[in-house]
This record gives sequence, C-alpha cells and structure tokens, in this order.
Amino acid sequence: MEKIKHVIEISTDSSSMILAAGEQVYQCYYGKKIATPSQIVDGYTEMVPAYSAFGGDDSTAALRLTHANGDLSTELVYVRHAAERMDANITETTVELKDRCYPVYVTLHYRAYAAEDVIEKWISVRHTEAEAITLNEFPSAELSFSSLHNHYYLTTLNGLWEREHNLSEEQLQIGKKVLDNRYGTWSSFGSNPSFMLSLNEPATEDAGQVIAGALAWSGAWKISFDYHLGKLFHDNKERRVLSVVAGINDFAADYKLDPGQLFTTPTFMQSYSGNGKGELSRKIHRWARKYSLRDGDKERPILLNSWEGAYFTFGEETLLSMMDGLNKMDGEMFVLDDGWFGNKHPRNNAAAGLGDWQVNNKKLPNGITALCDAAEARNLKFGIWVEPEMVNPASELYENHPEWVIHQPNREKILYRNQLVLDLSNPEVQDFVYDSVASILVDSPKIAYVKWDCNRSFTNIGSSYLPADRQSHLWVDYTNGLYRIYDRLVENFPNVMIQACASGGGRIDYGILKRTQEFWTSDNTDALQRIFIQWGTGYIYPAIAMAAHVSACPNHQTGRVVPLKFRFDVAMSGRLGLELAPKEMSDDELAFVKAAVADYKRIRPTVQFGDLYRLISPYGSNFAALSYVSEDKTKAVAYAYAINHMLGNLLPQLTLKGLDPQKHYLITEINKSNGDAHITCDGKVLRGDILMNHGLKVNLESEYDSAVFELTEA
Ligand code: GLA
Repeated sequence: MEKIKHVIEISTDSSSMILAAGEQVYQCYYGKKIATPSQIVDGYTEMVPAYSAFGGDDSTAALRLTHANGDLSTELVYVRHAAERMDANITETTVELKDRCYPVYVTLHYRAYAAEDVIEKWISVRHTEAEAITLNEFPSAELSFSSLHNHYYLTTLNGLWEREHNLSEEQLQIGKKVLDNRYGTWSSFGSNPSFMLSLNEPATEDAGQVIAGALAWSGAWKISFDYHLGKLFHDNKERRVLSVVAGINDFAADYKLDPGQLFTTPTFMQSYSGNGKGELSRKIHRWARKYSLRDGDKERPILLNSWEGAYFTFGEETLLSMMDGLNKMDGEMFVLDDGWFGNKHPRNNAAAGLGDWQVNNKKLPNGITALCDAAEARNLKFGIWVEPEMVNPASELYENHPEWVIHQPNREKILYRNQLVLDLSNPEVQDFVYDSVASILVDSPKIAYVKWDCNRSFTNIGSSYLPADRQSHLWVDYTNGLYRIYDRLVENFPNVMIQACASGGGRIDYGILKRTQEFWTSDNTDALQRIFIQWGTGYIYPAIAMAAHVSACPNHQTGRVVPLKFRFDVAMSGRLGLELAPKEMSDDELAFVKAAVADYKRIRPTVQFGDLYRLISPYGSNFAALSYVSEDKTKAVAYAYAINHMLGNLLPQLTLKGLDPQKHYLITEINKSNGDAHITCDGKVLRGDILMNHGLKVNLESEYDSAVFELTEA
C-alpha cells in the first residue's frame, strides 16, 4: 500500500466524499457525513482510483487517450490540490494530476453545495506535447464503491417518444451495465442521463442509503456501471468494486486536442441520502431551483400553447379567438406553436419552411408584433415556437446553404420528419441560428417566451466544416455550439423564457436546464399516461420545470376519454398549461377551467417551490398520490388519482408526509367538479400528526376519479 500524504475532504452538510492522495489519488469513501476523515484513510485498505486512466496496471479505466507519439497509456499521478470557498454554501476543490511520462495535465474539479448535499464533478485536460493528442474516452466523473456494500440496486428512467421516463429498478450483477444515448441532438430519449443507486438494499421513499447522479449534457452520453472483481490483495479475499463512469459518449467521438488547448467536460451531479429516494429527489430539486435551472425562484405563467388546438391550420382570427378564450379563463400567456413562418416555402405542414424564420405574410399579414399587441390588450404575455437547429430541403435556407447540413457527401441525406440537422460545429451556422432567433426577438420585443423544439437526431454524420481528421468532433462540437447559441441568447435577452422541447421529452437534462426555465415533458398529453411520465421525471427534475398541459378529449395521442377534472388534477401537479381550443369548449367546461386556473394560481408557489412527497406509486397500484409541502410547512397540496377501476377496491388511505406534526391544517378540497367532496373532513382542521399517521380516506369511486386537497396552517 502506498503512503498516503494528503486526505482531501469534499463534504456537504450531511455527506462526505473522502479522497486520499499518495502518488496517485484515491476515493476512500462517499456516503453519510463523517467527522474524522483521516481515520477512515488510516484504517482503510480498499481504495479505488478517484479518476482512473488506461495505463499502468489499470485496464478498466475511465480516461483513455492516445499520445502524439502513439503511446496508448496514461498514468496519472498527484501534483497538488486546493480548495476555495466560493460563498457560504459552495466550496470548490481542484486536484491536479499529471501523466508520469508526458506533459499531459488532468484537473479533477469538485464543487460541493453544502445545504443541498450535492457535489458536481468534472475534469479538464490540457497538454504540451509536440502535436495533438487524441482523447478516446473522456468521462466527466468516476464514482466507485469497494466491498463496503453487498448489493447495488439501480433505478433508471427509460422510454421513447410519447412514453418517456418509465421507472425501472434492477439489482446490478457482476458485469457491466451501460446506459447510453447516441442520438446527437437528444439527451433523454431511450434513457435519461441520470440514475439512482441504492446501496445494500433497494431504498424506499423514506428509508435506505441511495445516491443519485445526473450528467449535464444535451448530446450523446454514456453512464456505465462496471461491477467487477477487484484486484486480489495479500489476503486472497474477493474484492468487488463498482465503478460508475459518466460522461459524453465516446462512441465514434475521438477528440483531437491541440497543444495548449483546454478540454473541459460537462458536469456530473451526485447527491446522497441516508433516508430514501424521496429525500434524495427533494435535495436535487432544491439544488436545481437554486443553481441549475434558470429562474428557479420565479413563478411560471399559466399558458395556452396553440399546437393541439390549431396545429398548422390558423390565421390571425383563430389565434385571436384562442387569446380571447384564454383571457376569459384568466390565463397568463399565449404561445404560438409551429406553422407561422415561411413564404416561398410556407410552413403549412411539416414538409416545408424550417430554416426560413420570417413570418408567413398570408397567414399573419400583420406580423408577430401585432399578435404581441393583441395578447397584451388581453392581459396576456406572448410566446413563440422555433426549431432553429433544423432545415427542410424545401426552404430558402437549404437552397442557399445545402452545405450547412450534417451529412456525408457520398451518402444519401436521410430525412426525418422531412428535415435535416444544421451543422452547429460551424461558427457561421451558429451565427445564423443565433441571428434567426435574435431577430425574431428584436423585431417583436414583447415576446416573452420561446418554445425551442428539436425534432430529429443525427444520421450519416459528417460536417463540411470540420477537417477530415476531426469529423468525429461533431458530437461534442454540436452540443457545445448549441450551448454557445443559448448562452448568447440568455445574455442578450435575459427576460425571455425558453422552453426546451425536443419532440416532447427529448432534451431533459441539467445541461439545457442551466439555460432554460422548463421542458416540454412529453408530446403525450394523455392524463393517465402523464401520471407515469411525470412520476418518473420527478425523481430527478423539479415540478417547476415540468410543463404539463391539459388537452382535448378524446386525447389526440391515445384516444382516451377522461374527465376534464382528471386532466386538470394531473396537469396541476406540474407547471400548468393548456393545449386546447377554448372555442370548442362548453360554458360549463369554461367555468370549470376558470375556477381551476384561479386555484392553481393560489397553490402555485407550493407546487413550484415546495418539496415533493411521493405518497402512492402508480406502479403496481390502482391509485397514485403525491404532494408538495412549502419549505416553512405552512402550506401543502396533495393529489390522489384512481388509475384503474377494480370492483371491490380498497379506497386509498392518504397518509401525508412532510407536514409539521404540531401544526393544525385547514383541509379544503379544490377543483370539485360537481360540488361533492372526496373526504368527510373537507373544510375541517386537523393536526399534522393525524394527517401523517392516520391520514385521509379518499373516496375515489371509479377509474379517472381524482381529488386535490389544499392544506393551509390554521
Ligand atoms: C414537436 C413538439 C410539439 C409541437 C410540434 C410542432 O412535436 O414536441 O409540441 O411543437 O413539434 O411541429
């Protein structure tokens, strides 16, 4: 065992990560906070590399690079470390490493957020070899566990378009489990770049040790769980090591790094809870609202998006009538979706127009500014849809710049939704995309919101901008190019909100959320299926960012018929919006919507800034229930849904969580569609301990019956 010279503690209020540096740097511990880290190092023999490299006797390594002379190996040794307190809550630690033989320098970065128990990790690489080195595998972080734990249970969010973020859990076996995504433009179809990992036994909502991780990257990514037999020590005992390695996907993505150039990976967030998955989600949500989501402290408006209510078929009159309807419901923002642009190639369907970001003069002769004014006159803000990373071959943009699309010159240009992806590795294309969006915002300065869509992934990847030996840079340079565009927009239009859309749930990650206020959770607006999609998404992402819209009935995706109340009760557990045509609704429905909108405005701070408690999982149950509790525990809102009708069902007993046991709460059922309450104590005051131990019997009689309860300290 080599001599340890430094103990490096990276801690938060209730977790510790302990590194030890001798000649190399090891991770000795990550888990519940420890007061005397040096004792752990003294008494410990099973240290795992803090960030391993392929070289020496390490064959299962995180970092793999090829030196200028062709040497495939790297051995990282400790140089120095330093910690800096950024403010009362944040401490940044850097650990500098160097290859034993070559001038290649790797810095490990750790940013610890004390109150939220979050540690962000990333690395940076530079070198002064004579010529470029090649980064073959360059993950952001490694997180390893030695035989301290007997079993690991991995929870992931999986799914495709319109069925995003299904929850699954499995026990890790010896071998390698890889989660990845190779779409290029999307981060969260297939799997979301995040996970929870229970130690020893599956954590429940309220018990068990569990770790979460999430990668802040909106392109291709990879997270691997390599559970292997570690090196045998002198005592011949079997050692099991689990190495979690997370970063940009290295598949076909070799990256040449010139001498002096700095390569910085995206950040990887990890958090720990000793009290189950519920607490872990709450920590991540608090961290996100404060540090990793734009305007996490500002309430989101109730908006109506025109898509499902109008699709491509509208003129000014249709839009004005939607605004009138929204105004009558006391909504706050109208968002004009796809179909408003293109003249030579009008965007009247998905076949033409992408790339030509000028208003369609036939459909909207008075332009966007007139719509903004019309919205303002109705006391509404105005938002607009764009998909600026894309181009239809039927567009003036493509006629002028066919070389700007991602393609291989000798191969077919494969179309998806009739469109091609613009090559954002090219700075000229980045400028075009920036200018396209910026000029819309400059021409109509009252635009308050942009829905930024992205409806396809890479195929036959190639760039006419990148040199032949750097074609594989496209994966990384595309996403960094996208971030550059976003960052310029955010800087120059700080008051314009942005929604990350991407065919619904295709871009839900903490890379994009640093630059946007919310995401379109799914193109699937079926309220029943949304319960599952929102349930999974909420493991890692907060409700304030989760756009949830009430749509028409029968549902346009599934044909399901459910009551308007059920649709509202589901959407009101996220960032409420509407996706319907008010003029097709009856007076009774409009009156219901108006009342629900008023209710949402009242509970909005609790939903959007409160702590999430998952009460009854929809998986394996006939019911689902969740709640939000304000930080000071004076307010709460709870939701219960019947998702499956079984005759003879036991009615759910809704035992609440997170309240103050000693406070008294007034319980009011809201959104009552026919005036009947689902509980006997509607309008009564009960103490927190009763609500949390005995709970409420909720009389949910049939499928798609639902109830929402508002609790206020009495
Ligand atoms: C994608 C989005 C939808 C809508 C359409 C418009 O599918 O996810 O919400 O904006 O594009 O074409």
